Amino acid sequence: MTELQTVPRQPLPDGWEALVEQSRAVRQHAYAPFSNFQVGAALQVEGGEVFSGCNVENSSYGLTICAERSAAVAAVSAGFRDFRAISISLSGSPVPCGACRQFLYEFNPNLLCLLDRIGDSEPPVCARLNDLLPGGFHLSN
Ligand code: THU
Repeated sequence: MTELQTVPRQPLPDGWEALVEQSRAVRQHAYAPFSNFQVGAALQVEGGEVFSGCNVENSSYGLTICAERSAAVAAVSAGFRDFRAISISLSGSPVPCGACRQFLYEFNPNLLCLLDRIGDSEPPVCARLNDLLPGGFHLSN
């Protein structure tokens, strides 16, 4: 797992199994006919509610939305911006894309990220977002 070699690991939070179950479940709904790469994300907010999302591709490739951003948009649309932890279920690459890291960084640079690698028997890797995206962009006003 070379992508994560230099990233400090965090202990898995209480209840991580349920969160991972939800990201795996929503991954089943991924619409990924072009890449055939399914991703599911389950985002837990302070208070414990979970919002989930999958990747949704489009014939006009650039319009594709990633699972992590689907979940974040669902949470914000329901009025929740205090992101606590996100479980991301994928196979192959174990890390979220740069665009999603920046998108999540907006709401919590310290977000706990559970990286659930489908097909890997190891428990998910847990890392802080600011270790995955050091020096993320933020407008201060
Ligand atoms: N994808 C995600 O949903 N999240 C990521 O962090 C990486 C990429 C999706 C987008 C596209 O549908 C497919 O995976 C291949 O890039």
